[in-house]
Amino acid sequence: MTTNKELNIDSFDVSKDQEITIRRCTLEDLDGVIEVNEKELPEDYPYFFYKSILDNYPESFLIAQNSSGKIVGYIMWRVEKSPSLDSLRYINKGHLVSIAVSNEYRQQGIAKQLLSNSMLAIKKYKIHDYVLEVRVTNYNAIRLYEQYKFQIANVKKNYYRDGENAYYMTLNAKKY
Ligand SMILES: CC(C)(COP(=O)(O)OP(=O)(O)OC[C@H]1O[C@@H](n2cnc3c(N)ncnc32)[C@H](O)[C@@H]1OP(=O)(O)O)[C@@H](O)C(=O)NCCC(=O)NCCS
Repeated sequence: MTTNKELNIDSFDVSKDQEITIRRCTLEDLDGVIEVNEKELPEDYPYFFYKSILDNYPESFLIAQNSSGKIVGYIMWRVEKSPSLDSLRYINKGHLVSIAVSNEYRQQGIAKQLLSNSMLAIKKYKIHDYVLEVRVTNYNAIRLYEQYKFQIANVKKNYYRDGENAYYMTLNAKKY
């Protein structure tokens, strides 16, 4: 059985009475993750989708928890196979499925902690690139990804249900 100690990745103070713990997600955390997702992002997913990501890529499915045990952020990735540029072979890409931090906990470095730790975890799947989509108007998230040296590879037109375009951002895994 996995203990909380083994799941725990990092803890840091965001104020004098508030410690944030970054740790791997468990089945018991999924309701809290879904609550953050539904509050903070228009893109919602069914329960089984979260469960399948947790079953398949548990090392890179991380949560941020406050001192009272409330989940205030999460990140999840999956690995996708796609043709290489020369189309002669398939390569693995680590796809950032979703990241969100509760509004009242933002700008305290929580997303950076989630991203840094999960990128190292998903890299173990021998990925060639990290990839993600982000709304072209989501300036805060774009800035975050640019800090990690993600670059805009192309624009995906009408990517979101409401018609907004997405930037497809990529980073060669060797660079992180
Ligand atoms: C994007 C998001 C995850 C960032 O979370 P966060 O915990 O506030 O981010 P951090 O405090 O770790 O900040 C990391 C970097 O992101 C950028 N950033 C985040 N919020 C910002 C803001 N309000 N203004 C400017 N830059 C911002 C900065 O580059 C920042 O680095 P810096 O502090 O060195 O300047 C959060 O705003 C969020 O949950 N948004 C809603 C969900 C979402 O858009 N998810 C991304 C979908 S692709």
